[in-house]
Amino acid sequence: MGTSSGLVCSRCGKNFASNQLLNVCECGAPLLVRYDLAAVRAGWRKQDTAKGPASMWRYSPVLPAEPNEAVTLDEGWTPLSQVSTLQREFGALDLWVKDEGRNPTDSFKARGLSCAVTMAKKLGVRKLAIPSAGNAASALAAYAAAAGLEAHIFMPVDVPQANFIECKAFGANVTLVDGLISDCGKIVAERKEREGWFDVSTLKEPYRIEGKKTMGYELAEQFDWQLPDAIFYPCGGGVGLIGMWKAFAELEELGWIGSKRPKMIAVQAEGCEPITRAFQQNAPVSEFFQNASTVASGLRVPKALGDFLVLNAIRESGGTAISISDEEMLDAGVQLAALEGIFAAPEGGACVAAVRRLLRTGFLKPEERIVIYNTGSGLKYLEAYSTRFPRHAATAQDKVGGLITPR
Ligand SMILES: Cc1ncc(COP(=O)(O)O)c(C=O)c1O
Ligand SMILES: [Zn+2]
Repeated sequence: MGTSSGLVCSRCGKNFASNQLLNVCECGAPLLVRYDLAAVRAGWRKQDTAKGPASMWRYSPVLPAEPNEAVTLDEGWTPLSQVSTLQREFGALDLWVKDEGRNPTDSFKARGLSCAVTMAKKLGVRKLAIPSAGNAASALAAYAAAAGLEAHIFMPVDVPQANFIECKAFGANVTLVDGLISDCGKIVAERKEREGWFDVSTLKEPYRIEGKKTMGYELAEQFDWQLPDAIFYPCGGGVGLIGMWKAFAELEELGWIGSKRPKMIAVQAEGCEPITRAFQQNAPVSEFFQNASTVASGLRVPKALGDFLVLNAIRESGGTAISISDEEMLDAGVQLAALEGIFAAPEGGACVAAVRRLLRTGFLKPEERIVIYNTGSGLKYLEAYSTRFPRHAATAQDKVGGLITPR
């Protein structure tokens, strides 16, 4: 157990052996990892998960490597908490936050990169390259450091300071690009062959999805193998949403859950909403979103390689896609912090704002069980939140709550 039985193309269905280093299918679409779930089922019961480590590697029978091969910093097994004050404020009855800000490098990207770096190391890679909106870069830098591998990082010049400093501290080779993640991706693609880099771009290698799918396994386990009615997920490249959707299918095949699925709700920023537009236009794929701009750096993805998979999951689940303005997401982030003591990334704040809106429109009923994925910590976004809290308000001179100069 603990090893996959092969890879399959998410578009054309072509099969590949699992013991080779691969990026995407010849047709250009992402590859998905397959397991012999009947064999897994015979030797692993849902009660057994509790005997595993308090990390995502507790699900190793459905991951591509064994726990003793894992490059791990104890990612996953994050808290899932009912937010009672916020739910009262919103008129809901069963509202929860899964706090992915409690991962190594303070975001859910740790899950995907733990798995990707584990597999890259196992398959003999020495140099890894990534184009990133920020948090994936931090996670790659940390896991590459832990594995003793080289990380080559390309991120937008206006990436949050936390991501830049983290990557440098982890010893990665950092290049800032005066553009978007799509421009960073082009640079990696142009140079990787010459430099001998393995490209771990979102959905251009098969194992980040496997790490991220553990969010779905965990949610099921933490709710005692009952899935909620709705999941709010801040969608950039969509890996987490695709991963969770895959996890639910696997869980059903294992016989651990039934056929009921949560409504999958992709939350985007108004300043970069390719998936929302495609969903509204009933299109099978998204279009490149021009002049993308949002403080939620993880949502600044103008075109996702796996857009068709995200759109399929949303539609099949009876979910929706919704966009939130930067102002609203920061306000909602502050509201969550003040009411619940959870300081969320703007991406998580966007989900809070989206829940409120969909309860108001009646898309969600108050009694439905709703889960918000807060994908990162607010501490990684001090530039964005500092617009809410200027430190030296002139009117607060020499007052408690302002700035006092001892004389
Ligand atoms: C905090 C945060 N939330 C959400 C996302 C979007 O993630 P995904 O690619 O899974 O859609 C990112 C990606 O960078 C992120 O950093
Ligand atoms: Zn294919």
